[in-house]
Amino acid sequence: MTGLLNNNFTGKSIVSLTQFTDSDMEMVFSTAQKLMDAHAQRRLPKLLDGKIATLLFFEPSSRTFSSFTAAVKRLGGDTISYQNPTVTSSYQKGETLEDSARVFSHYSDVIIVRHPEAGAPHRVAEAASVPVINAGDGPGEHPTQALFDLFTIKKKHGRLDHLQGIIAGDLLYGRTVHSLLQGFAMFPGNSLSLLSPKRLALPDEMIREYEKRGLKLNILKNEKEMPTDAHFWYWTRVQKERFDDLNEYERLKTSFVITPELLEAKGNDKMIILHPLPRVGEIDPRIDHDPRALYLTDEIKNGLFVRMALVALVNGATLQS
Ligand code: NCD
Repeated sequence: MTGLLNNNFTGKSIVSLTQFTDSDMEMVFSTAQKLMDAHAQRRLPKLLDGKIATLLFFEPSSRTFSSFTAAVKRLGGDTISYQNPTVTSSYQKGETLEDSARVFSHYSDVIIVRHPEAGAPHRVAEAASVPVINAGDGPGEHPTQALFDLFTIKKKHGRLDHLQGIIAGDLLYGRTVHSLLQGFAMFPGNSLSLLSPKRLALPDEMIREYEKRGLKLNILKNEKEMPTDAHFWYWTRVQKERFDDLNEYERLKTSFVITPELLEAKGNDKMIILHPLPRVGEIDPRIDHDPRALYLTDEIKNGLFVRMALVALVNGATLQS
């Protein structure tokens, strides 16, 4: 099932942020927070005891793969890990995605899938008889990443409405950005400034769609135009794997870099800096110890607990409050 969640996650797949209302999102955040608090008190409940998650990853991944694995195992569940199946398995023999979905539905209680084609997790969800979670589909979406990015912003600023943010990097292929914009479009009064090379600009149809839903988008030409009162900066890498021409990638890859000088000129005290990682040169490491830089600290930690919450919720596991 891939429809609206309507405050009931049990047995449902999570393939897109469009399935969420703000109250669904709140349910994920409050579950994640409770798990985080329980973990701090060394009382993390084994909500996934006896459950198995299949991680079916057709695209390379270190962080998302590991954080889902850690999330399932910390809650007492186990995992079947299938990384790069196109070279190691029946896919090479020509098995369809749908057949795999059916097979792994018998082996496990949830399938977490990453795939280079936008929309592939929807196909898996249609064929599977267990919940499916989208862990990134090509240039499409990355809903779990966006959920913990939003959670991180909410924990810092106390709200997800009437915020100003700067989103930079690869806005064409960057699926984390697509899901994040989807999330911000759900709340009133948000204004986002977009900074990217022209070739990697957010597609026009997405701009129209989000603006129709009330999101204010300002397209910046360069760093000079950056507003100085943003609540967050969200930087992303240029997605090398989506380029046919690697010279073009080389030319574009570090178009916009956060340096101490840029932060000094355009930053402010209340803002935070996020990045879905991996970073490949677009944030100067001298920024890493700045208390506003959360990409190697809170963002990662929040990701683990949001993923725990999602896997637990689709499995119908509930927490005593
Ligand atoms: C992101 C992804 O895979 O889309 N990374 C991640 O999930 N940790 C961002 C990226 O690869 O640039």
